[in-house]
Amino acid sequence: MSTTAPGATRRHYLMCEPRFYTVSYEINPWMDKTRYTDVERAVQQWRTLRDTYLDLGHTVETIDPLEGLPDMVYAANGATVVDGVVYSARFRYPERAAEGPAYQKWFADRGYVTHTAAQVNEGEGDMLVVGDMVLAGTGFRTDRAAHAEAQELFGRPVVSLELVDPHYYHLDTALAVLSSDPADPQIAYFPPAFSAGSQAVLRQLFPDAVVATEQDAVALGLNAVSDGQNVVVAPAATDLQGALRERGYTPLPVDTTELLKGGGGAKCCTLEIRAAAPSHP
Ligand code: ARG
Repeated sequence: MSTTAPGATRRHYLMCEPRFYTVSYEINPWMDKTRYTDVERAVQQWRTLRDTYLDLGHTVETIDPLEGLPDMVYAANGATVVDGVVYSARFRYPERAAEGPAYQKWFADRGYVTHTAAQVNEGEGDMLVVGDMVLAGTGFRTDRAAHAEAQELFGRPVVSLELVDPHYYHLDTALAVLSSDPADPQIAYFPPAFSAGSQAVLRQLFPDAVVATEQDAVALGLNAVSDGQNVVVAPAATDLQGALRERGYTPLPVDTTELLKGGGGAKCCTLEIRAAAPSHP
């Protein structure tokens, strides 16, 4: 078992302040539109999350929230960016459809090469880069055909994983990338969220993975953001924090409970921009 976190690397994130946050429709089991949502509290928690990244020395850019798109705060769904190439999102539900072009425009305006998706995919919610490969979820949101589309676009192996529990409808609600270092990729995951075949694949690829408990999973503890050393995680995911510490990571509990009402946590609010690989002469 690898007991040493490989160490922090600087990250570049895109986030969206939840100024228009509410739960006005229900597209996952966490959402209850009869429940009160507190915008001020959501904004406060979001700012604490952003400041945590800034304090760690990461770069955070923001996209302006649009009225009528309350889920836009979940920036991870906006696209997947690998080697500076932007694979835009194409949402499953019409309520979120306009977010795909909004995020794509943000990237296009800044000179990124963007690719309009032919297949339904919800960005990094279902595509997680680990080392040289991409783990991709399907079952609730992203179509399996999008995995092939991403593989062609990025030129990296994409491993399809089947999600089976509607509470863990996006891959990033059931699996966290702890280290993306190709020499030592490490993950944490909650096995019951995956089909038997996908659990076997994960065991084979990551025999030393952190296996999260139900308590971690229900707090959306796996919706964590790691820079290779520091792991921003839901405070209630205490088993996970213990397991992380044992392996040399530094858990940083950040409360995102207001955003949990929409079915998301820290990772959902964070889209990682992976720059183009430096070209060698
Ligand atoms: N309400 C949003 C939805 O159901 C939450 C998205 C959470 N984002 C994520 N990356 N898991 O689509």
